[in-house]
Amino acid sequence: MRLRRCQFMVLELRERLGVDLQLLLADEPRLAFQTQWVALAAHLERPVTLDAQEIDVVGRLSASEWVTCEEAGLTRDDAALAQLREKGLVFEASDSNAAHDADTRLRDCHWHGLAAVAHRHLRWSGVDSIAEQQRFAELFDGQPMAHLQQPPAPVFERGAPQQRLALPKQPDSPLLDLLARRITCRNFDQGGPLSREDFAFVLEATFRALAQVDVTGVSVLKKGTASAGGLHPTEAYLLIQNVEGIAAGLYHYHVLDHALEPLQPLDAADVRRLASRLLAVQEYLADAPAIVVYVSRFERNFWKYRQHAKAYRAAILDVGHLSQTLYLAATERGLGAFFTAAVNEADIEQAFGLDPMQQGVIGVGGFGRRSATRREIEFDPLHAVWPD
Ligand SMILES: Cc1cc2nc3c(=O)[nH]c(=O)nc-3n(C[C@H](O)[C@H](O)[C@H](O)COP(=O)(O)O)c2cc1C
Repeated sequence: MRLRRCQFMVLELRERLGVDLQLLLADEPRLAFQTQWVALAAHLERPVTLDAQEIDVVGRLSASEWVTCEEAGLTRDDAALAQLREKGLVFEASDSNAAHDADTRLRDCHWHGLAAVAHRHLRWSGVDSIAEQQRFAELFDGQPMAHLQQPPAPVFERGAPQQRLALPKQPDSPLLDLLARRITCRNFDQGGPLSREDFAFVLEATFRALAQVDVTGVSVLKKGTASAGGLHPTEAYLLIQNVEGIAAGLYHYHVLDHALEPLQPLDAADVRRLASRLLAVQEYLADAPAIVVYVSRFERNFWKYRQHAKAYRAAILDVGHLSQTLYLAATERGLGAFFTAAVNEADIEQAFGLDPMQQGVIGVGGFGRRSATRREIEFDPLHAVWPD
């Protein structure tokens, strides 16, 4: 019997607070606490509780080398060892199960361990973000902001006003004008479809590769948006609800061919329900006729930046850059756009058939024609979109 533990696992000491009758009776004004060790493994979907024996046993095993029970100072019938195998944290070389497969796949992807654990365990499934907000508001008598008290000042100052060097302002700039008109849209037109030209323009400006170049044996892409190492690991997966001449359903965008790859057709009601679920019930965003899921191909980024402390950050930043380009492309075209990180990543992976550790969801955007009436709040203090 040869054993190995999973590649990435972090032990967290979790605490549960509660009211203790004894403390109350003793007139001690504090909550009672209970602690437990929880293993967060990058290949497992859920945290796993561990006891002291299991922690001792897993600590005797290597993440890279297969060892015998004897080498690890264990007996074959060790109860804690059996529990760890049951929990999917320890494997026998010939094990064939979902946890072992997931751990093996992860090893090929060159993740930084902490980033892998954070990515896996910060994903949502089935969250209703609107209901969560309401619950939070009710907790504080409908005044959650009053409970939070004053935020840190919006402007950070490092000197007296008279010490500042005033800079010239540009009188006339198409870019500054475009930026001033970029307003996150939460009021999409529910009338006719988005035109195919508008739809294609926004995708072309944001995602299309302008060139494919061989740089010292590595094929890299040139786009209008910057990307760490020129790798462009971000893929656009689309949920199309109402675009002229394109059937509703799920698609993937091909960056070199500037074309859609159909994945699954859906009828109008199903696609709208799915949009709501993926967007954590933000209905005002789910109304967008074209919804873009920003998916990072970690395998491509981490192929170069192996176990690199900055690689995951770079992957997320790539999406931020692309999202701003999409916002500006839509704004130039007179369309509205949004971006949100409040999404049900696990539900999105399921819909598009993605392994979260190979191709992970970072956020979701969308675009379409603006509605003539404002039902939902938008941030437009300069009245660039809404007259009052
Ligand atoms: C990372 C990120 C996450 C966001 N998440 C949400 C969201 O969950 N729901 C939403 O309606 N808007 C979301 N937004 C949009 C912001 O609320 C919006 O940018 C902000 O209110 C300022 O408005 P503006 O974009 O019109 O300037 C997000 C924006 C960013 C960059």
